[in-house]
Amino acid sequence: MKRFHVTTFGCQMNEHDSERMKGMLESLGYEESPSRDEADLILFNTCSIRENADNRFVAHLGEAKRLKSEDPGRIVGVGGCWAQSVKEEVFRRFPFVDVAFGPGQIHRLAEFLNSDSISAQGYFEFEDFSGDLPARRERPFQAWLQISQGCNCVCSYCIVPSTRGREQSRRPSELIEEVRSLAADGVREVTLLGQNVNSYGRDLPPEERIRFSDLLGLVDSVDGIERLRYTSPHPKDMKEDVIEAHATLPSLCEHIHLPLQSGSTRILKAMRRTYSRERYLDRVEMIRDRLPDCSITTDIIVGFPGETDRDFEETMEVVDAVSYDSAFTFVYSPRRGTEAAAMEDQIPHSVKKERMAVLVDLVQARAAERASRFVGRSLEVLVEGPSRKDPSRLRGRSRHNKAVNFEGTASPGDLVEVEIDSSTSQTLAGSEVLLSGIGG
Ligand code: SAH
Ligand code: SF4
Ligand code: F3S
Repeated sequence: MKRFHVTTFGCQMNEHDSERMKGMLESLGYEESPSRDEADLILFNTCSIRENADNRFVAHLGEAKRLKSEDPGRIVGVGGCWAQSVKEEVFRRFPFVDVAFGPGQIHRLAEFLNSDSISAQGYFEFEDFSGDLPARRERPFQAWLQISQGCNCVCSYCIVPSTRGREQSRRPSELIEEVRSLAADGVREVTLLGQNVNSYGRDLPPEERIRFSDLLGLVDSVDGIERLRYTSPHPKDMKEDVIEAHATLPSLCEHIHLPLQSGSTRILKAMRRTYSRERYLDRVEMIRDRLPDCSITTDIIVGFPGETDRDFEETMEVVDAVSYDSAFTFVYSPRRGTEAAAMEDQIPHSVKKERMAVLVDLVQARAAERASRFVGRSLEVLVEGPSRKDPSRLRGRSRHNKAVNFEGTASPGDLVEVEIDSSTSQTLAGSEVLLSGIGG
C-alpha cells in the first residue's frame, strides 16, 4: 500500500483542507505514514500570510529534496496559499517538486496521481468548491465546516484574496446535510469556517440566500451538535442579529473573535478595513451589553506602513479599553503583490519589535485579569485528551474557548463540569466535578 505524509502550515482553513487531502488519499487507497522518510507521497500544505510562514516551509523542503534524491520514485507535492501565490515559479525554484496546486484544488491532486504524467504539473485555476471531498478528522467529536471560500475584502496588507479568490458560499441545504452527517458520526462541536463568515450567503441566488445568523440557527437545531463556533467574523459585518444568536442559541459558544488590526482610524483606513475605531468600539459595547460574560479575542498588526507612535498608542488604548480574553499579535510583514507592500514609510524592524513587546505585555496583563473571573466557577469543558505538560491530568476547552487543565477521569469527547481553582493569561486549571451517587 502506498503511503502519504502531509505537513500543514497556516490557519484552520488549511488544516481543514489537509483533512480533505487525507480523506481523499485514503479513498484512493493510500495510508498515512507517521514520518516523511517512509512516505511515497510527501505533501506540504503551505501558508503565505507572513514572511516567516514562507521561511518555515522552505526550511522543510530541504528534507523532501534529500528524500527525493535518495528515491526518485517518490512524489513531492506542494499545495496551499504559498503555491498559489508563486504558481509555476514553484518548479523553477524547486525543480524536484512533481505537483503543485492552489487551495481548493485538492481534487486535482487525485487527477495527477491517477494519470501517467511524468512531468511536473501545476494547478492554479480558481474553481468551484471541493466541499464534497471526504475529510479525515483529527478528533472524532470535533469538526470544521467550511461555509465559504475566498474573500471579497481588499485589506491592503493581506495576500489571502489573491490566494483563495473571490468569496463563494456553499448552499445552506448542502451545509445542513453535512452537519447532520457529522452529528450522526459522533461530532458534538462544529466550527464554521470562512475568511469573513458574517458576509455568508450574499453571493447565493435569492431563493437560497440566508443570513449568517440564520445559518447559525439551522446548525444549532441539528440534534447532537452541542457546541457551535465560527471564525472569523469581520467587524464591519458584525450586526445585532449575530449577537442576538449568541444570546438565544443554546449551542453557540460564549466567544467572539473580532479582529481589530489597528486602533487608529487613520491606519484602519490605509488598511482598507472599512470601519473606524469608534465603530469597532461600538460593536464591542453591543457585545458587552447583550453578552456580558462573552469572551472577546482579536488579531492585531503592529508596524503597518506609516504607523506613528500616536497610531500605536491608539491601538494600546483600544486594547486597554476592550480587555481582550486573548489576542494574536503580528508584526506587519510585506506580502508580494499587496497594496501595502508598495507603500512608503515602511517601519524599521527595531521599531516594530519594540512596539510588539509593549503590546504583548498589555495583552497578557488584560488576558490574565479576564481569566481570573472564572476562578471559583464551574465550567463546562469538552475533554480533548491528556494535558500536554502533565499527562496524568486532562485537557479540554471551555465554551469561552479557554484551555483548561484539570484532575479527572473523563474520556476525550466527554462534556464535564470543572471547578476552576486557578488561572493564567493562557489557561485555566481545576478539577472535575464528580456527580454524587456515581461510583459509590
Ligand atoms: N480572514 C481572517 C483572517 C486573516 S489572516 C480575518 O480577516 O480575520 C489572520 C491574521 O493575520 C489577520 O487577521 C491579520 O491580523 C494577520 N495578517 C494578515 N496579513 C498580514 C501581514 N501581511 N502581516 C502581518 N500580519 C498579517
Ligand atoms: Fe485578508 Fe481582510 Fe480578507 Fe481577512 S478580511 S482574509 S484580512 S483580505
Ligand atoms: Fe490561511 Fe495562510 Fe492561506 S493563514 S488562508 S493558509 S495564507
